[in-house]
Amino acid sequence: MNRVAVIGVGLTKFGELWDHSFSDLFVEAGSAAIIDAGIDGKDIGSIYVGNMSGGRFVNQEHIASLIADHAGLNPVPATRIEAACASGGIAVRQGVMAVASGMHDVVVVGGAEKMTDITTEKVIQTLVTAADQEWEAFLGMTFPGLYGMIARRHMHEFGTTREQLAEVAVKNHANAKNNPTAQFRFDVTVEKVLNSTMVADPLTLLDCSPITDGAACIVLATEEKAREFCDSPVYITGAGQSTSTIALHDRERMTVSDATINASKMAYKMAGKTPGDIDVAEAHDCFTIAELLAIEGLGFCDIGSGGRFTEEGCTAIGGEIPVNTSGGLKAKGHPVGATGVAQVVEITYQLRGEAGMRQVDGAEVGLTHNVGGSGGTAAVHILER
Ligand code: COA
Repeated sequence: MNRVAVIGVGLTKFGELWDHSFSDLFVEAGSAAIIDAGIDGKDIGSIYVGNMSGGRFVNQEHIASLIADHAGLNPVPATRIEAACASGGIAVRQGVMAVASGMHDVVVVGGAEKMTDITTEKVIQTLVTAADQEWEAFLGMTFPGLYGMIARRHMHEFGTTREQLAEVAVKNHANAKNNPTAQFRFDVTVEKVLNSTMVADPLTLLDCSPITDGAACIVLATEEKAREFCDSPVYITGAGQSTSTIALHDRERMTVSDATINASKMAYKMAGKTPGDIDVAEAHDCFTIAELLAIEGLGFCDIGSGGRFTEEGCTAIGGEIPVNTSGGLKAKGHPVGATGVAQVVEITYQLRGEAGMRQVDGAEVGLTHNVGGSGGTAAVHILER
């Protein structure tokens, strides 16, 4: 198997981007990544694109060919990957497999979503297509509702407090302040989170990731090509993917993300690492409770102890294991198909020492964790410099 390097990264600003079309987003992120890598169109063997729902958000399907076309990259083969909010993470995995297998020397992996062109109600209806239609969506369930139930159960089983959930938002907003591409670059306090508008008990507005436009892109290459093009390659040494039940009620334990546990075990084994080796992580915090499930499932702390671990500052920059230095989905924003790729962009910045005011000193090993739905899919990657 070839070693797989990240040799270029690119990102758009995340937010409500009225002046950007869907095509503008991926062309901007893709051009930035290609320039960063110093490659040419003719070097690209294939394109993989994470996109959850172009059809419902912007009335556009046939996304992969559209991207190759608008990026001026025809006739390069292009493939779209859909796995709900994990579309980007699974696209990264497809790119890794293409390079590792020897099929291609250089591939481009992108993720893009334009969510703000339709009403919030329609966004919520679109997102919930990733839940079980017969048993969840049909009965009126939404993702804030599903994660609200997980949060209540976590509080019941483990004594997690409302304040501990809020601490996730406080930390991630603080990190986003130092991220120029983040959607929300302002501080919040525990009191502010608790008193913001109720969305789905116990989760308030400030416990939720927002509705976001944005795109992210990376260029992957073999070690040989990486040496040719790049002074500071970062290697993807572990890749894991797993599934769990789509419907929450079918799970043995709804407070534990089995897909996260299984995907991370696969990635740790492949990289020969343990949770203690990770210096910095981007984890899927679509709601504050989701970050607790993530850090527990990834093995950074014991199952049920995520609230305490967060409250003690262990996941802050300067703590035991900094999580979501970018601001996370919560404050950087969550353009669903782009998120898994954007996580790899942030970890690449961290391992190259280019994360500016949010840099984790001496970071050598990083991890990304991307979830689809309420945990039906998880993708984990381990990166090393
Ligand atoms: N965090 C912080 N502030 C937010 C926010 C969030 N998640 N969402 C919106 N805001 C802010 C807006 O910037 C706006 O501020 P302003 O008045 O100063 O301009 C204000 O709150 C109202 O925004 P609005 O766009 O009207 O919010 P909304 O009611 O349409 O949407 C949610 C709020 C929580 C319903 C929506 O963000 C949501 O559904 N989030 C979850 C997305 C999701 O499920 N993703 C998939 C996860 S699996």
